[in-house]
Amino acid sequence: MTTYFHYPPQPLQDELKKIADSLMAPGKGILAADESVSTMGKRLADVGVENSDENRRRYRELLFTTNSTVGNSLSGAIMFHESVYQATADGVPFTQVLASKGIIPGIKVDSGTVPLFCSEDEVTTQGLDDLAQRCARYKRDGCHFAKWRCVLKVKRNTPSPLAIAENANVLARYASVCQASRIVPIVEPEILTDGGHDLSRCQKVSEAVLAAVVKALHDHHVYWEGCIFKVNMVTPGQASPMKATPDQVAMATATALRRTLPPALAGVAFLSGGQSEEDATVHLNAINKCPGRSPWPLTFSYGRALQASVLRAWGGRDENKMQAQMELITRAAANSQAARGLYTPGAVAGGAAGQGLYVANHQY
Ligand code: 13P
Repeated sequence: MTTYFHYPPQPLQDELKKIADSLMAPGKGILAADESVSTMGKRLADVGVENSDENRRRYRELLFTTNSTVGNSLSGAIMFHESVYQATADGVPFTQVLASKGIIPGIKVDSGTVPLFCSEDEVTTQGLDDLAQRCARYKRDGCHFAKWRCVLKVKRNTPSPLAIAENANVLARYASVCQASRIVPIVEPEILTDGGHDLSRCQKVSEAVLAAVVKALHDHHVYWEGCIFKVNMVTPGQASPMKATPDQVAMATATALRRTLPPALAGVAFLSGGQSEEDATVHLNAINKCPGRSPWPLTFSYGRALQASVLRAWGGRDENKMQAQMELITRAAANSQAARGLYTPGAVAGGAAGQGLYVANHQY
């Protein structure tokens, strides 16, 4: 590995750091609203709404036009391609609506997973080919950060060395292309919760995967201060008979991160991964209260665990819009408190707060 390379020019470093620090502002987190058309279709079907372009637009309008107080809890929102080019019924582009509340628009830039040949149902993620051109366009159109999700599966023989190496490399290549386009990368190596494994197996797999991703990002000269990791919390597998307490989840998660991630990283935002809204909030709170030293902001970037109660309250009906937006405000505020370790478990109810949101072999 050559050590002959240039650091990014100072103005680029400054711009990336400023965006990343804004995303990681104390007590703020990120709304993941970047469901693909088919995934959004499943969420809409759950509440009896047809998966039409207009219904997806109406739903995203509901999320993004929530009262500006939501900007006290949200620093960013990740969008799917179509939302970047959609607008409110009055014609205001969603990117402008978000920016006016101090919420930074972001964009999912991967194009989903594909199988790894002859593997045990393992996958890698596609989307590199025209990434530089797409990033340049998204930046011009108001997006300042991006997300790329890789998926790793815990089974007896997996994740394999191939899956770990391949996904680490594709994440590193993605992150470097984003940074060259003045876009902060959110690097997401998600370890699925499917399986009967225990807490310590999830911790060891998380450490192995994160160590590989960090090495690959180093090799690709990624600028750490302008980069964010989006990771799973360390929990027992969904089918494990052993349940873990919030303190056990917190210690296993904090330990895995402390053993692997450089202090220079701008921050960590957790995915919710099928936890209920309340579990995701309680676990984030416990992680922020965990004994020992974590050198980065530890916050949320939830999809399902920020939207389940919103979708249920809305049900596709305009007359429910305010109630649904109130669900977003209160759950985002609960997570904001949890990001500071100040949440009191049970303090915030919601229509779907206790509902498990697990989806087998989750696609995004
Ligand atoms: P969940 O919070 O629903 O797991 O999704 C977050 C996300 O952005 C996954 O890529």
